[in-house]
Amino acid sequence: MADGGCAGAVRIAPEAFSRVDEKEVRRLSAEIRTLARERDAVILAHNYQLPEVQEIADIVGDSLGLSVEARECAQSTIVFCGVHFMAESAKILNPGKRVLLPHLAAGCSLADSITPESLEEWKERYPGYTVVTYVNSSAEVKALSDICCTSANAVSVVRSLDTDRILFTPDRNLGRWVARQVPEKEIVIYDGACPTHDVLRGANVRESQRDDPQTIIIAHPECREDVIEMADEVCSTTGMFAAVERHPEAKTFVIATEWALVDRLKRMHPDKEFIVADGCIGCRLHCPYMKMIDLRAVRRSLLEGVFEIEVPEDVRRGACRSLERMLAVPRDR
Ligand code: 13P
Repeated sequence: MADGGCAGAVRIAPEAFSRVDEKEVRRLSAEIRTLARERDAVILAHNYQLPEVQEIADIVGDSLGLSVEARECAQSTIVFCGVHFMAESAKILNPGKRVLLPHLAAGCSLADSITPESLEEWKERYPGYTVVTYVNSSAEVKALSDICCTSANAVSVVRSLDTDRILFTPDRNLGRWVARQVPEKEIVIYDGACPTHDVLRGANVRESQRDDPQTIIIAHPECREDVIEMADEVCSTTGMFAAVERHPEAKTFVIATEWALVDRLKRMHPDKEFIVADGCIGCRLHCPYMKMIDLRAVRRSLLEGVFEIEVPEDVRRGACRSLERMLAVPRDR
């Protein structure tokens, strides 16, 4: 794909969503909260979920925060409003709980970019290397890895290892960001990427910045290197909220990540301007998988107990070892 191109981006403006009307949102939200109480369920939602789904959740967060919450919550059922690998991680960490994903097609193309077979092949090519795998991966791939990481702790995870030779999978942009922070280690990086972030170029960010040097740029580490180089802050989705607080004098921010998070920032700081970095002309960064879950899907999930996540016990045990090892490492920020 040529630079400045748009392959992999989904050209849908958020306004184009067939949103349920306000009265319907209130009715469904009240019903969902009642059902969650009756069914002893906790609702976890990722920062990229639709605003009305975030509103009804007990906890909203990034991949790392939600993994920790999944491990600590008391309820017998977890309704995971996110994508498949996130719900799967919740199940791996909580085998005794019922974990529901409200839409079975809510996958992740980055997670799909590495299979157990391709990882095995790669490990054979690099014997003796320690495998660090981003949580955006399947349970089988996690089970074949030494340790997991998220965007919130990847640098700390790599630094924590008492080895200098690392295979980093599957996100090449996050891998490069880590390699920049930890130059003393040799890091071989797999060639996967998140199409939602990878579409963005430095030129798009400059355009979003509108030649205002006072504008603060906050980028997710799944963005390409040219975007990362321009950023004042590089952090996980939840890390972005704290990043905004670190610049109390700033009036305008360009946010290089998915639009739903930016929607929440706008509501939290009505006195500031937040611009979603634009991947192509008039196209804000959008994750189609995250947006498969709406209030009707959450209601159905609670009513019918769908879709239950299952992980074979031998795979779960291996994946759990990699996740637990990660959870022992502190956040980068
Ligand atoms: P966070 O862990 O930063 O929330 O990122 C998850 C993700 O999949 C971003 O595309």
